[in-house]
Formats: sequence, C-alpha cells, structure tokens
Amino acid sequence: MKALILAGGKGTRLRPLTYTTAKQLIPVANKPIIFFVLEQIIQAGIFDLGVIISPETGDLIREALKKGSSWGAKITYIIQEEPLGLAHAVKTAQDYLKDDPFLMFLGDNLIQGGVKKAVEDFLKEDPQALIMLKEVVNPRAFGVAVLNGNNQVTRLIEKPKDPPSNLALVGIYLFSPVIHQAISRIKPSWRGELEITDAIQELLPMGYQVLARKVEGWWLDTGKKDDILEANRAVLDAYAKSEIKGEVDESSHLSGRVEIAEGTAIKNSVIRGPVVIDKECLVENCFIGPFTAIGEGSRLYNVGIEHAVVLEGCEIRDVPRIEDSLLGKNARVCRAENSRRALRLFLGDDAELVF
Ligand code: DAU
Repeated sequence: MKALILAGGKGTRLRPLTYTTAKQLIPVANKPIIFFVLEQIIQAGIFDLGVIISPETGDLIREALKKGSSWGAKITYIIQEEPLGLAHAVKTAQDYLKDDPFLMFLGDNLIQGGVKKAVEDFLKEDPQALIMLKEVVNPRAFGVAVLNGNNQVTRLIEKPKDPPSNLALVGIYLFSPVIHQAISRIKPSWRGELEITDAIQELLPMGYQVLARKVEGWWLDTGKKDDILEANRAVLDAYAKSEIKGEVDESSHLSGRVEIAEGTAIKNSVIRGPVVIDKECLVENCFIGPFTAIGEGSRLYNVGIEHAVVLEGCEIRDVPRIEDSLLGKNARVCRAENSRRALRLFLGDDAELVF
C-alpha cells in the first residue's frame, strides 16, 4: 500500500502568506500541517509515500520534510507542473503509484484520530474506493456525497450550487488502481480542473463499489485564515502538554496546559493555556491567552494576545489586545499611539505594522 500526499496547488485563499510559503507548511500548534498528515499516514502503517509538489513551492516542502524528522519512510517527490486538479495530480503520479492501492491525503486537511481504522477497513472490505464524509453547514464549499438507506454512495458532486446533502467529502481517500481508468474517462470541470470527485462518481456506472465512512471527531480543511485559527484551537485543545523547558521568572503566572520550549524566557507575564511557545522566544510583561501558538525566536513586550498563530521571528511591542490573528514569519507590530482597540490581524511574512 502506498500513500499520495497532495502538497501542490497555489493556495490563493491564504494570500498574503502563500506568496512566500506553501499552505501545507503553515503551522498549527507550531507544527506544519503537512507533518500531521505524514504522522497519521505512518501511524496507519504506510511507509512508501509520494508527495505531489508544485514547481513554485516544491523545494520548500522538500526542505521542511527533510529537516522535520527522519520519518522512517521512503518519500518520492513528484512535480505537478500546474495545479490542474486532484485527479490530474493522481494522473501525474501514475508512474510512481503503478498498480498499487493507495491512500490519498490532501496536504492541508487535518482530522482527529488519524486514518488507521479507515486503512484497515479498506484492506479488509476490499472496495474499489473508500471515501470519508463529514456533515457540514456549508456543503457548497466541498465535494458532496449522497448515500442511500444502506449507507451506499449513490452520487457525488463537486462544489454544488444546490447541495443534495450536507455530507462533505473529506480530503482523504482510499483507492484501488481502477481509479486510473475512471480518471481517464472524465473531463475537466467548470473550474478547469480534473476533479477526483468526478472520477469517484465515474466508478459507480462502471459497476464498482464505493464505501463511505463518517469522520467522528473534528475535520479541518485549512484553506483560509479562520480555518487555520480553528485548526490551531482544535489541535491545542487536543494535544497541548504542560511542559516547561525554558525559563519562567517568579513574577510570572502560568495556568492550564502551557508548553515552553528550550531557550525561551518568560518574564513578568501571565499565560493561560492551552498555549505553546517555541524555542528562543522572549515574552516580557505580557498576557498570553488560550489557543495561542508563538513561533521560534519571537519577541513580545507589553502585549496581550489570544487565539492567535504567530509564526517564527515575529516582534510585537506595546499592543494591549490582539486576537483571532495570524502573523507571518518575521512580522513586526508596534503601537505608537495610545489605543486600546482589539486588533484582528492577518499579516504576510516580513510585514511591518506601526500605528
Ligand atoms: O478539503 C476537502 C475538499 O478538497 C473536498 O471536499 C473537495 O471535494 C476537493 O475537491 C478538495 O477541494 P478544494 O477546492 O478545497 O481543494 P484545493 O484546491 O484546496 O486542493 C486541496 C489540496 O491539494 C491542497 O493541499 C493543494 C493540493 N493540490 C490541489 C490541486 C488543485 C494539488 O496538489 N494539485 C492540484 O492540482
């Protein structure tokens, strides 16, 4: 069994951050989203991984995966010259996939609980495809499936204007090699992409079996800023530990689950978890509230912040309230006047905001 991770695409809905990075590398709880994907695939017992990358951000993905961990898996990188759709990505990977069954995992999707059970069910029940579904309030934004009374898939449609159900396709699929035949029979959709949803739909008239499983816990498609904040919230809620490796002075007060990495100093500050603060940070005279992740080497002085993702190397000074915010690498925010307004920010890498 192989796995195909999709880490190409343009990430236009996450600009300005994706001008300088790949969306799959944006961290939640200080860990790039794609790392969670790899961990879950490896936990499911799959060690032969293909990663679809784009010419623009492929090197960043390779570097991050090389630096991040030894993984204990074989990784093959496959360049998709243009993001012409999820089924096009599978087509591009055909030489790598050969006639093996495979797990396909979108590099910007996160689910609670992993994929081990789905992989086991697929191997045991041996269908031609297994898809994962989640009830959502906005099905128009996703692929949507219709099931009959016996929980069998009867129809699939990509981003319908008039959704026939509220069951969204999660970006995790298991396929037998017949999916390649189905892909060869479909045409690009109205958005000019070869849709994997259309290829799975195509399996039905070919007489093949498509199984569906509902995701029990949370599922997050981290396509937009608020999705990243929600993913950060869910991951911190589930996984943050109480672990202090850096220095916390006597006038600081920590409560809840707070992780402080090596080399970080906390001075005269209040921190209410769940919060993670990476290595080599300085936090002085601050309030850091729940669901905040601060990246490596960041410096915060006289700041109140909560429900926020701050990437590495940021500097924030004299801002009493920042919330629901996402700050790119090396962003600088300082306040020159005396305003107590809460700020909600979405800043790209290297942005400077002085007000
Ligand atoms: O997140 C679940 C949804 O993912 C499903 O409900 C939809 O049926 C499915 O089409 C997909 O929709 P999106 O419009 O959200 O897909 P997106 O373009 O964001 O791409 C998903 C991932 O795949 C992302 O990490 C980028 C990567 N990708 C995308 C395209 C179009 C590629 O590697 N190559 C591509 O050609």
